[in-house]
Amino acid sequence: MCGIVGYVGAQSALDVVITGLKRLEYRGYDSAGVAVLADGGLAAAKKAGKLLNLEKELVDRPLPSGSTGIGHTRWATHGAPNDANAHPHLDNAGRVAVVHNGIIENFADLRAELAERGHSLDSETDTEVVAHLLAEAHSSCGELAEAMRLVSRRLEGAFTLVAVHADEPDVVVGARRNSPLVVGVGDGEAFLASDVAAFIAYTRSAIELGQDQVVELRRESVTVTDFDGAPAQVRSYHVDWDASAAEKGGYDYFMLKEIAEQPKAVADTLLGRIDASGSLTLDELRIPHGVLREAQKVVIVACGTAFHAGLIAKYAIEHWTRIPCEVELASEFRYRDPILDQRTLVIAISQSGETMDTLMALRHAREQGAKVLAICNTNGSTIPRESDAVLYTHAGPEVAVASTKAFLTQLVACYLVALYLGQVRGTKWGDEIRAVIRDLSQIAGEVDRVLETMEPVRELARSLSRKNTVLFLGRHVGYPVALEGALKLKELAYMHAEGFAAGELKHGPIALIENDLPVVIVVPSPRSRSVLHDKIVSNIQEIRARGARTIVIAEEGDEAVEPYADHLIRIPATPALLQPLVATVPLQVFACELATARGNEVDQPRNLAKSVTVE
Ligand code: F6R
Repeated sequence: MCGIVGYVGAQSALDVVITGLKRLEYRGYDSAGVAVLADGGLAAAKKAGKLLNLEKELVDRPLPSGSTGIGHTRWATHGAPNDANAHPHLDNAGRVAVVHNGIIENFADLRAELAERGHSLDSETDTEVVAHLLAEAHSSCGELAEAMRLVSRRLEGAFTLVAVHADEPDVVVGARRNSPLVVGVGDGEAFLASDVAAFIAYTRSAIELGQDQVVELRRESVTVTDFDGAPAQVRSYHVDWDASAAEKGGYDYFMLKEIAEQPKAVADTLLGRIDASGSLTLDELRIPHGVLREAQKVVIVACGTAFHAGLIAKYAIEHWTRIPCEVELASEFRYRDPILDQRTLVIAISQSGETMDTLMALRHAREQGAKVLAICNTNGSTIPRESDAVLYTHAGPEVAVASTKAFLTQLVACYLVALYLGQVRGTKWGDEIRAVIRDLSQIAGEVDRVLETMEPVRELARSLSRKNTVLFLGRHVGYPVALEGALKLKELAYMHAEGFAAGELKHGPIALIENDLPVVIVVPSPRSRSVLHDKIVSNIQEIRARGARTIVIAEEGDEAVEPYADHLIRIPATPALLQPLVATVPLQVFACELATARGNEVDQPRNLAKSVTVE
């Protein structure tokens, strides 16, 4: 949420910052702005709407060239997405510029205080107060980094700030509390950004900043302190993907590319985690076996698509380990006083590793003594750093706002954790688990096979582009898949889409069925879930009898569904618990194509942003 870039070096700061903002636009696209230090002063430009509007503005009204600058792409919290509220914000003298991600909770008090001292504030944002406070602090201490420390100590809430001051032409200063901020270290240049994607075209050397730290960037130095000025510990790392991973690579949309990358993402997430004897080797988990053996309860916290991965994980964990497992929306978790102790294993699932609700849930869990395992796709992000252990998914950068490949890899990681718990605890460890591990190691090929047969799904999606509602039904692990299919359609096609457990149909939702209403049904395997399979076949007949247009996703060879399917989408046969890995793919393709047919922006759906760093 909100993308931030800062640069100091020998290149044109404007070029570097705009390049970085293009890579961060997935974080917010309500407005964008830049500021550069040049000719002893500070020049800024900002524009409502997408980055393209700012680029046009810079062509019409170019900024002077300079080699120190900052930029921002916004997802509005305080104030409408207009030019005045766009970042950067400047002080009254126009000497300080600041960009911000997060929410400053005490901004109203600070604003009143500044007004009393004669400052005039022009925007409705919480950020503008920081520019004014920094200007005041700088005039008393004479140093931007120290001014940032003084101001940060006064701020409440979550914030990442990046600022420049016209009196210090070769300095960029950042501060971090909760919201993400990483440093890129180049040769005679340095970068600050919400995400490494912003500077990956220039350097793959990164430094992860911790909570409540201030960083001062100069061309040849990076200095990190805490908010009181004491030197801080930081972790340097090498980014293991390159700029091409964050390019569209010939696809029209990132989402299409990311859907196509799923077989590789799944294979990469399994790589090195299954040994030659077919056992799991998850020694990377730093949680001692004793803790895993003694865990009496697993609690999964996550949001959105990651929450759906958690719902599926519950089936796997309870089946393979017999440990009770609860799955909770992270945003609800800490507000209901959950029962946790040292024998609770909490699993926090997050692609970005920055989702504030999930972060707050894991902090709450750790405060209660629970051990927290993160399943995360982003090295250097906050959630794994604050967890006791982490299992990284290796999906590579996910740029499209709607999560696809990260979801499949989250599922793989959840299966690995469930199987590993089973392996460590010895519960139900036997032929079934071995067979599933074997099937899991082959699953990337099955995902690939699904992708090869998607043209009829695309055609079907196009034919439904004028519909208003689509329903999704599933049972067992097909139920969370139905929820995920509905979420994808809502966020991309802006349609009314709802997922139901098929068994609930007669308890209310069947009243929604009307003539030609498209209903997608995810059918469990007739082999391993034959009772559920037969029940859902009855459900299909019930809704068809009431006029629904049935779109049936069923295993190859499942003939029982054929008479009742208006449209039949075949998926490979898999063990029952692994079916979501193949059943979700057609739903992603369906949503993407339907959104395109409706003329929507697939990678940047309205009102959304990837990486939700505010509660
Ligand atoms: C939906 C989607 C969101 C995210 C959710 C959690 O397509 O992408 O629902 O899954 O915001 O994000 P992470 O996984 O980054 O915590």
